[in-house]
Amino acid sequence: MHFEPIGHLESCYPDKFGTPRQPGLVEHSLARLRINRKWQPEEALEGLAGFSHAWVIFVFHKNDNARYHAKVHPPRLQGESIGVFATRSPHRPNPIGLSLVKIHKVENGAVILAGVDMVDGTPVLDLKPYLPDIESQPEARTGWTGSVPRTDIEIEWGEERLRDLQNWSVDLQKPSLQGFAPTSFDELRQLVEGTLALDPRPLVYRGYESQRESKYRKTHAVRFLNGDVHFEFVTDSKIRILEIKRG
Ligand SMILES: C[S@@+](CC[C@H](N)C(=O)[O-])C[C@H]1O[C@@H](n2cnc3c(N)ncnc32)[C@H](O)[C@@H]1O
Repeated sequence: MHFEPIGHLESCYPDKFGTPRQPGLVEHSLARLRINRKWQPEEALEGLAGFSHAWVIFVFHKNDNARYHAKVHPPRLQGESIGVFATRSPHRPNPIGLSLVKIHKVENGAVILAGVDMVDGTPVLDLKPYLPDIESQPEARTGWTGSVPRTDIEIEWGEERLRDLQNWSVDLQKPSLQGFAPTSFDELRQLVEGTLALDPRPLVYRGYESQRESKYRKTHAVRFLNGDVHFEFVTDSKIRILEIKRG
């Protein structure tokens, strides 16, 4: 078997850390897929704009652990393990990902996708329209994922950080980023808040927020486009933004 990517994603998430664990969780997380010339992008994309959603089939090219484990530890299982084929783990016999995303725009041989859970540079193997009449399954059972509680996380900015965010949103209107960067302060704020509110921390870091002496760090940084957002968990349901470093 030989597969060749149809293109590579330019995503608002440069790093794995912070990238949502599933698609559709952060509305303003955008990525651009430019279809390679060889596949005749303009022709190949004809008709796609009539669909609201598409399946993206891609390669987990940034997997760093090559060892195979038949049972894995999904973050939502709070330390327990389960069979790899009952999960969406990136670590599987063939490192292939599948995400259902929104089609934001189709233009100039490229597709802008919204609600992504893929990092920048991800090789895409295929793109297929989502067919709700056939694929939507309202009666579907949710297996072990159904019973997992979610915490609402509040984000505290402070005036200065909001000013930094405002300046950053202006800086993001560079031509090179146009198409997949937030186009306003509100969109950028929703991207950052929506992403951090998913709690990107690995499990071992959780639960130590109120302890002064802890071997686990309480400050973290998630990279969005060209900026790092540094933050800390004040409690397990409250994040304080500490700094925005751009460049
Ligand atoms: C749990 S996977 C789910 C992906 C897809 N929705 C699926 O079910 O196959 C999503 C996570 O994979 C990681 N990831 C995204 N793109 C990647 C890439 N190109 N290489 C390696 N890991 C990636 C990120 O950490 C992200 O949070």
